[in-house]
Amino acid sequence: MRHIMNPLDLSVEELDHLMDLATDIERHPAKYAHACDGKVLATLFYEPSSRTRLSFESAMIHLGGHVIGFADANSSSVTKGETVADTIRVVSCYSDICAMRHPKEGAPLVASLYSRVPVINAGDGGHQHPTQTITDLHTIRSMKGRLSDITIGLCGDLKFGRTVHSLIHALIRYPGVKFVLISPKELRVPDYIRDDVLEANNIPYREVEQLDDAMADLDILYMTRVQKERFFNEEEYIRMKDAYILDKKKLKLAPEDMLILHPLPRNNEIATDVDDDPRAVYFRQVQYGMYGRMALILMLLGLDGIYEG
Ligand code: CP
Repeated sequence: MRHIMNPLDLSVEELDHLMDLATDIERHPAKYAHACDGKVLATLFYEPSSRTRLSFESAMIHLGGHVIGFADANSSSVTKGETVADTIRVVSCYSDICAMRHPKEGAPLVASLYSRVPVINAGDGGHQHPTQTITDLHTIRSMKGRLSDITIGLCGDLKFGRTVHSLIHALIRYPGVKFVLISPKELRVPDYIRDDVLEANNIPYREVEQLDDAMADLDILYMTRVQKERFFNEEEYIRMKDAYILDKKKLKLAPEDMLILHPLPRNNEIATDVDDDPRAVYFRQVQYGMYGRMALILMLLGLDGIYEG
C-alpha cells in the first residue's frame, strides 16, 4: 500500500507512466469505464475546494467507482473533537482509497500513518499539493511536448502557494529546467525550497520582482493567486493582492509559444481578456487534472495493468 504526500513519492518513471496512462484514458475512455467497479473513494476535505475534490470524485465516477466523504469539516464529527487519526481509522473501513485536504501542514501524513487504504494529499496548508503537480506536468508535457529544457516563470504568492512548492520539487528532476521566481520580496519562496531544493541541487534560478523583466524569456508562465487564507494580517494581504495582473497588453511582451498555466481559482492576477488567447491553457489544465487523478487512482489501487502502453 502506498500513500502520496509529495510529488517526490513518485519517481520520474512513475510520473511518465501516469501521464502516458492519463493520455490513454482521455483517448479511450470506454476501456476504463468499469476499471473501478465496486471501489469506493473517500474525499475528506477540511478546507474549501472546487477543482481538486470534484475532479477526484468525477475521476472515480468515470472509472465506475463510488464516492463518499465530506466537503466541509463542520458537517463531520470533527466538530465533536474527533482527531484526523480516528477519522481515517473509521473512513478507511468504508473505502478503498482516500483523498484528504487539510489546512494544517502534515495532516494527510498523520492520516496515512493510521489508514488501512492509500491516502493522497489533496493539499495541506501552504506545504504540498502533489495531484496539482501531476496536473501541471501533464499539461506542460501534452501541450509543449517536453518537460526538459524549459524556462518556467512562477509568479505571485511563492511563499504560501503549495502548488508552486510541489511543482519545483517535481521539475528539478528534469534536465535543463530553469526557474524565474517572480514575487514581491514578502512572498518569496521559503528557505526550505530555495536553499534545500534549488541551491542544494544546483538548479538555475533567479528571483525578480517585475513580471515584465521576465516575460520574454519564458516557455511557461505559471500564475498564482495571493493566498488570502494564509495571511495573519488583512492589511498585508490587501497590499499584496494585486501585485501582478496579467492582461492582454502585458502579454505582448511574451513569446508567441509561451503557455500560461494557473492552478485556479484566480482572483485578479489574470484579466479575463487573456482567456481567449491561445497561450492561455488554464481551463484545459483543469481537464488534464481529472485524467491525471484517474491514472493515479488506478495506479494506487493496482489496477493500472489495464494499460498495455
Ligand atoms: N487548484 C486547486 O487546488 O483548486 P481547488 O482549491 O478548487 O481544489
